[in-house]
Amino acid sequence: MAVERTFSILKPDATARNLTGAVNAMIEKAGLRIIAQKRIRMSRAEAEKFYAVHRERPFFGELVSFMISGPVVVQVLEGDNAIAKYRDLMGATDPAKAADGTIRKAHANSVGENSVHGSDAAETAAKEIAQFFSGNEIVG
Ligand code: RTP
Ligand code: MG
Repeated sequence: MAVERTFSILKPDATARNLTGAVNAMIEKAGLRIIAQKRIRMSRAEAEKFYAVHRERPFFGELVSFMISGPVVVQVLEGDNAIAKYRDLMGATDPAKAADGTIRKAHANSVGENSVHGSDAAETAAKEIAQFFSGNEIVG
């Protein structure tokens, strides 16, 4: 299996409830390495750019407002098959549909406040990592 990198965000509902360590423990237990991490407050422009693919969706305004409502932790995760592995660990977008053992099942509040983001493909992972990290901030 190929070693990949994926981009992760611990969303404002997770930082508000002091869940950074609990989520990171699940990430590391799944065999993913946190090779870059920082806590930031996203600007509106950054959040709009990040979720631009959803700009025509009815929930876009709510999504952007939520993502800038508090601190987030942005991360780069590395491991075998990291992109799909992290999506599996996150669980379904709607926590009511998320499987046992997933981050969203354990911690998410709702479909909007669902604790974590993970890249959905290699191309988006590379783009998302580059939006938030420079090369020398990533230490594999
Ligand atoms: P993400 O991009 O955050 O990793 O989540 P995802 O792939 O599981 O879900 P996606 O379809 O990409 O949606 C992005 C985020 O938008 C919010 N959302 N709200 N109110 C709604 O119906 C609704 N649908 C999506 C969620 O926060 C979702 O994670
Ligand atoms: Mg998505």
